[in-house]
Amino acid sequence: MTSLTENAIEILRENDRGSYTVPTKGLYPFQWNWDSCLTSLGQRHFDEARAWTEIDTLFAHQWPCGMVPHIVFHKHDDGYFPGPDVWATNRPVPTSGITQPAVAGFALRRLYDLASDKAAAETRVRVLLPKVAAWHRWFYATRDPAGTGLVAILHPWEAGRDNSIDWDTPFDRVPTDGISPYTRRDTQHADPAHRPTKEQYDRYLWLVEHFRGLGWDTTKLHDASPFQVVDPGFNAILIRASADLADLAEGLGETALAAENRAFAARGLAAMEGLWSDAHGQYLCRDRVTGALIDSASIGGLLAAFCAIPSARAQAIAATIDAHGTRFRVASHPPSDPRFDAKRYWRGPVWLVVNYMIADGLARAGAQEAADKITASSLDLIRTSGFAEYYDPMTGEPLGGGRFTWTAAMVLEFLSMEA
Ligand code: GLC
Repeated sequence: MTSLTENAIEILRENDRGSYTVPTKGLYPFQWNWDSCLTSLGQRHFDEARAWTEIDTLFAHQWPCGMVPHIVFHKHDDGYFPGPDVWATNRPVPTSGITQPAVAGFALRRLYDLASDKAAAETRVRVLLPKVAAWHRWFYATRDPAGTGLVAILHPWEAGRDNSIDWDTPFDRVPTDGISPYTRRDTQHADPAHRPTKEQYDRYLWLVEHFRGLGWDTTKLHDASPFQVVDPGFNAILIRASADLADLAEGLGETALAAENRAFAARGLAAMEGLWSDAHGQYLCRDRVTGALIDSASIGGLLAAFCAIPSARAQAIAATIDAHGTRFRVASHPPSDPRFDAKRYWRGPVWLVVNYMIADGLARAGAQEAADKITASSLDLIRTSGFAEYYDPMTGEPLGGGRFTWTAAMVLEFLSMEA
C-alpha cells in the first residue's frame, strides 16, 4: 500500500461519524449530499458495506416529495452558518431546503458493478433504486415545469459551485434588502480572501429566506425564484445518473423504472446541444429568466462530458482544457477570463471531484489521453500539496479546509485508475 492510499483512508476514517461522513472537521460539520455520494466511492476501496451506508443515510432524509436535501444537520453544531434555524424546513431531523447535483445514481451503479460481494450489493441497491428514481422524477417535475428536458438550479449552492462566475449576471437580479442580520462562520475557518464575498452571501440568504417564506413547497419555488439557471454540469450529472439508474434497473428486472430513466436521459442529452458554444469550445449555462446563454466558460460546461455527449464535443472539451495552460488541471474558470481568481473558491481553483467526473466522461467518450492527463495532474497535485478542499491551479497551493473527505475519496479512485 502506498502512503498516499494510507493517508486517504486515514482521512476518510477520521471524518467518519458512524453512518455518515463530514466533509472536513470545523468548516463543514454535517452531511452534504454530493460529498457523501462521491465519498462512498472512496470507502468502497476498504469497506464496501460502509460505502452503501453512506448513501443509505443520505436517503433516509429524503423529503416525501422526492427531493434529497443538500445538507442533513444530524447533530447540533454552532460552527456552521446558515444552520437549521435559518432553513426552518420543519423536518424530523433538520435539513436544508435545496438540493445538490444528483450523483447518487452514478455512485449506485459504480458501487454495484465493482462490488466484490454481489449478493450484499443487490440487497442494498434494491432498496435505494426506487428512492433515487423518485429524486429524478422530482427533478424533472419541479425543475423543468415546461418540459424542456433540462432542469434549473434555483440557488448557486445547488450547483455545488457556490460562487462561480456563472452566477454573477443572474445573481444581480436577486435583491438583498430585508434579510435578517447574520454572522458568517466559514470565514472563521478559512481565509476570507478565498471565500465568497459578503455581497454574494447576502444574496444567498435572501433566496433562502424567500423560499422559506413559501413554506418550502418545492412545487412553488421554481416559478417564484428570480434565480433560475440551467447548468450544463448539473444536468450532465443528472443525465448520467438517469442512464446509469436505467441500466441498473434493467438488470434487476425493474423495467418501468428503467424506461422512465432512459427517457429522462435521452431527452436531457438532446437538449444539452442547445447549450453548446463553438466560440468557447464547451457548453455554457443558460439564464432561464432571460433565456440567454451566460458568457462564462466555467468548469460547469466542461463537466458536461460526464454524460454521453457526442465524441466530437468531448474532443473539443479536451482541447479547451489543454488551452487553459495551467500547471495543474482543471481550473474552474479559464485564466484568460479577466474575472478569473486563482485562489477564490469556485472562481479559478482546481477541485478533485470535478476532475474525476470530467476524466471519467472523457475516457468513456474515447478521449483516453485527455482523461489520463487529468488523472496524472490530480495525483501530482496531491503529492505536491496534500489533501485540501481546493487548489490554486497555477501554484498548486492548498486552499480552504484541510484533510478533506471527498479529495481523499477521489485519490483512491484516481490511484485505482492509474494502476
Ligand atoms: C462547499 C462546496 C460544495 C460542497 C460543500 C461541502 O459548499 O461548494 O460543493 O458540497 O462545500 O464540501
